[in-house]
Amino acid sequence: MSTPDHTTPGASNPPVQRRVRIHTGPPPVTSNGDRPLRESVFELDNVAIAYGSNIAVAGVNMRIQRNLVTAFIGPSGCGKTTLIRSLNRMNDSVPGFDINGEIRYHGHNLYGRGADRVEVRRRIGMVFQKPNPFPKSIFDNVAWAARNLGMRKGLHERVEEALRAAALWDEVKDRLKDSALGLSGGQQQRLCIARTIAIEPDVVLLDEPASALDPISTQAIEELVHTLKTRYTIVIVTHNMQQAARVADRTAFFSLDASPDGTQQCGTLIEYNDTEKIFNDPADLRTRDYVTGRFG
Ligand SMILES: Nc1ncnc2c1ncn2[C@@H]1O[C@H](COP(=O)(O)OP(=O)(O)OP(=O)(O)O)[C@@H](O)[C@H]1O
Ligand SMILES: [Mg+2]
Repeated sequence: MSTPDHTTPGASNPPVQRRVRIHTGPPPVTSNGDRPLRESVFELDNVAIAYGSNIAVAGVNMRIQRNLVTAFIGPSGCGKTTLIRSLNRMNDSVPGFDINGEIRYHGHNLYGRGADRVEVRRRIGMVFQKPNPFPKSIFDNVAWAARNLGMRKGLHERVEEALRAAALWDEVKDRLKDSALGLSGGQQQRLCIARTIAIEPDVVLLDEPASALDPISTQAIEELVHTLKTRYTIVIVTHNMQQAARVADRTAFFSLDASPDGTQQCGTLIEYNDTEKIFNDPADLRTRDYVTGRFG
């Protein structure tokens, strides 16, 4: 990431060094003008990730497109969390973590020498499986990253907007000073989403965001994902096939297969396509078995 200039998607100007250019214009169209070509936000070229000698995933080639919801599905241990965390360098401090191949974010090598990790986290937000609000007030949770980045102007409006976008405002507007830990699990997860989007990232990564939630909260999160994709590029890991079918435009199915050197089993991208195709007419028998519940 070496581009010095930069376009900010919101009105604020955090005082971090700008290295990544975010394209905010409409996606380009083909020469015949009728079929939009979506911009790639991430391009993964032959990505392999290992922890020590254990290869978690290998040979991953894919493009993740702007303003779409992309789901990662597959059996436990096939590397979904590893891969999604690698999209905002969340694994960097994990002992033994090693990545090969290339992940480009808007054309910039995410692991290149010029990449600014603060800026990467600023642009690419992440929500985890288990809601993890800070032991602070609801307001301070949502304001946290903005304050850290020096985005103090219009903070109340920023917090309100994020809570509204996360479909939580009406439930918390009269108790913003109360502890976030007093919220229900589903509310906490929407709060974590509000905290993530309060600094107007470009991408939101969600690792099984509804797996610990009841059906009503799950539905709220799914509806939220659907509305957020007009503003954000979303990647979601889920074990719930119906959820992937409901929320995702594109679905990537991973499974365990022989590693390139044949010495071990590792996570492998089996098939990646429009969600409808993956669920109704998959090309690979392993995908068919998984999505129909015969395996995994
Ligand atoms: N922090 C870590 N240190 C060492 N090995 C790890 C670590 N995290 C994951 N692994 C290994 O990497 C492989 C992929 O794990 P990962 O958690 O990415 O799978 P997953 O597809 O997300 O599984 P699940 O569906 O159960 O969440 C596994 O072999 C796992 O043991
Ligand atoms: Mg996982």
